[in-house]
Amino acid sequence: MKIETQVIHAGQRPDPLTGAVMTPVYQTSTYAQKHPGVAEWEYSRTHNPTRSALQDCLAALEGGTHGVCFASGLAAVDTVVRTLNPGDHVVCGDDVYGGTYRLFNTVFAKVGIKFSFVDLSDPDIEIPEGTTMVWAETPTNPLLKTSDIAALANKSHAVGAILVVDNTFATPIFQRPLELGADVVLHSTTKYIGGHSDVVGGALITSNDVLAEQFTTLQNSVGAVPGPWDCFLTLRGLKTLSVRMARHDENAKALVAWMQERDDVATVIYPGFGGMVSFVLKGDLDAAIRFVKATKVFTLAESLGGVESLIELPAIMTHASVPPDVRAKIGIDDGLIRLSVGIEHMDDQRADLEKAFAAAAG
Ligand SMILES: Cc1ncc(COP(=O)(O)O)c(C=O)c1O
Repeated sequence: MKIETQVIHAGQRPDPLTGAVMTPVYQTSTYAQKHPGVAEWEYSRTHNPTRSALQDCLAALEGGTHGVCFASGLAAVDTVVRTLNPGDHVVCGDDVYGGTYRLFNTVFAKVGIKFSFVDLSDPDIEIPEGTTMVWAETPTNPLLKTSDIAALANKSHAVGAILVVDNTFATPIFQRPLELGADVVLHSTTKYIGGHSDVVGGALITSNDVLAEQFTTLQNSVGAVPGPWDCFLTLRGLKTLSVRMARHDENAKALVAWMQERDDVATVIYPGFGGMVSFVLKGDLDAAIRFVKATKVFTLAESLGGVESLIELPAIMTHASVPPDVRAKIGIDDGLIRLSVGIEHMDDQRADLEKAFAAAAG
């Protein structure tokens, strides 16, 4: 099946009881048992049919055999790292999402897991012996750097490490890391997968049975599970993923071409696909603040990947938890502006940004 069909049908079938076409919201904590201890479904932290439909759909989209969903993207990140032991070494991209960076450096560094932050977009990067896990976000957030996943998978496996790819920005429409050799794919489903800025969630997808068993055990043991309503909303949003991504991509490409011609823009950063665009405005931080406060079609807000356009200043907003010296080292300028280009008409998006350029100029 093609991915445009899978987003609508994979993991789903008409409800066996009623024939309902949409997977019902199984809003229940527990299930009746025919005999003590004999039941297909027992308890909703462990299993829930709405969650199972979402998990199976995501697994199919990423070309994996197992999908495991969580209450947030960070709960999914947390689950992967919990499979490690004190002394293990993670080699991580140096401009990962600020919350991932904070989780690694505050929660997991304390229990003896070692993290090195390196530029995984560098084709000559070496993965040292003794590495247990390589953590790549590609494209990265907010600098939109990309890594060669197949090369990273080979280098990781050569030293006995597994490769985890955060595929939140690309989505399986543009990139399927498991097919390129990655061991685990992670999503903040809060973003493009859900697509409507109305639900927070996360997911892990793998074809490795041992890892899948660990993730499922942690999902049940730690309990950071999404509720059935959240799974329903995510499944519903997911059905339009392919048409949404096509429009995000088209609009972003048009805006990038327009901004590249402007004298008031110092740099435009775009990985060549998708709806995320970052740029550096000429001028100081105050000019950037005037810019982001002037837009109306682009809402000033954190997050990304919804149908509506969003704008933000990473240094003050999404990446404020990354220390200023680290931000400077990896190139997150104070004046860097990140756009999540939505699916509104591109003329309205461009007119909105045109007003913001005028406001920034004062
Ligand atoms: C690339 C990436 N990974 C993970 C996360 C964390 O996801 P959540 O906010 O759903 O916990 C985010 C959130 O912005 C993100 O951008």
